[in-house]
Amino acid sequence: MTTERAVAHVVGARPNFMKAAPVIDALAARQAAQRLIHTGQHYDRAMSEVFFDDLGMPEPDVNLGVGSGSHGEQTGRLMIELEQQFASSRPSIVVVYGDVNSTVAAALVATKLAIPVAHVEAGLRSFDRSMPEEINRILTDAISDLLYVTSADAMAHLGHEGIDPRRMRFVGNTMIDTLLRLKPKFDPGPIAERVGVSGDFGVATLHRPANVDSDDAALRLIDALHRVADMVPIVLPLHPRGRERLERLGLDSHEQLLIVEPLPYLAFMSLVSGSRLVLTDSGGIQEETTVLGVPCLTLRSNTERPITITNGTNQLVGNDPETIVAAAKLALSARYAPMTPPLWDGSAGVRIASDLLDYLRGRE
Ligand code: UD1
Repeated sequence: MTTERAVAHVVGARPNFMKAAPVIDALAARQAAQRLIHTGQHYDRAMSEVFFDDLGMPEPDVNLGVGSGSHGEQTGRLMIELEQQFASSRPSIVVVYGDVNSTVAAALVATKLAIPVAHVEAGLRSFDRSMPEEINRILTDAISDLLYVTSADAMAHLGHEGIDPRRMRFVGNTMIDTLLRLKPKFDPGPIAERVGVSGDFGVATLHRPANVDSDDAALRLIDALHRVADMVPIVLPLHPRGRERLERLGLDSHEQLLIVEPLPYLAFMSLVSGSRLVLTDSGGIQEETTVLGVPCLTLRSNTERPITITNGTNQLVGNDPETIVAAAKLALSARYAPMTPPLWDGSAGVRIASDLLDYLRGRE
């Protein structure tokens, strides 16, 4: 990758990597100059490096090593470091992904340096401003020049916020590009054996502040997961956030609830693809299960991805154990088919690359 007037991609946290890989690939196929900036928001090997390997992503040109902290500290450090990067290398455009703190920090800094910003996965709204991601989404969309959108409802949200339609492009879903490209490599057998399940099993993930940052919420979900694990073994690759509290409250005291370390992309998606049921508070997994035809019970009361309910396998079950157990029982007795929301066809990255290069040519 060169450093001169390059397209700069900013990634920092685990869900960014699978969204960026298809755009980087498609721009590379068009011989575009690119620079990959890793903010270091996620830094454990299991949360970052292993994804670069699985996705075949190029090594970052730089890792800013920003690390963890309160929102103010982390976002502040991100902005200071990113400003230095952009000021010295003057990218032609900055591409940001998703809704993490690295996303909004990069968009703010680039815009103020008069560098155009493209936001991949624009327009998603949970309408829940207690979620840090919702604030990141609203702010990033308000100041980005190009808004690449995954679904029709997201286009409508941007319209309601008064955003000029000329900035919006409905292109599909780059995370699903990655899934479709790597799906032939998904093989549940070896990873199921490694984590110790055979026959039917479910997969769970848990990391949202609303679910793991208070004893009350955590206890309800632990109760629910234990009762679902009475029906079917559940594998739970546990995010570092909340681990201490969840373990202190007894999460790992059920022998059919198998707590494992965070998994690399291929191992995790292999497991999900072979599972009967997913319980999660993640955003991206709601989309991935839709395309794989695996029922998804979302442990939240809202979602920024309603297309996975209307055109997919997702349902919102909140954190009430009775609701969760009843929904799990039903899901385990039903059969689901893979679903493809409009334009989730594996070509979103190619559409973005082509539009981005047209846009840059138009500015010359
Ligand atoms: C971030 C995103 C969230 C996304 C999630 C995916 C924001 C506001 N949140 O949440 O939208 O769903 O990533 O994983 O950007 N930690 C480690 N090792 C790491 C990274 C984090 O141990 O490599 C621990 C630290 O204790 C840290 C905590 O996790 O304080 C939270 O990390 P942070 O990056 O602030 O947010 P996530 O909860 O990971």
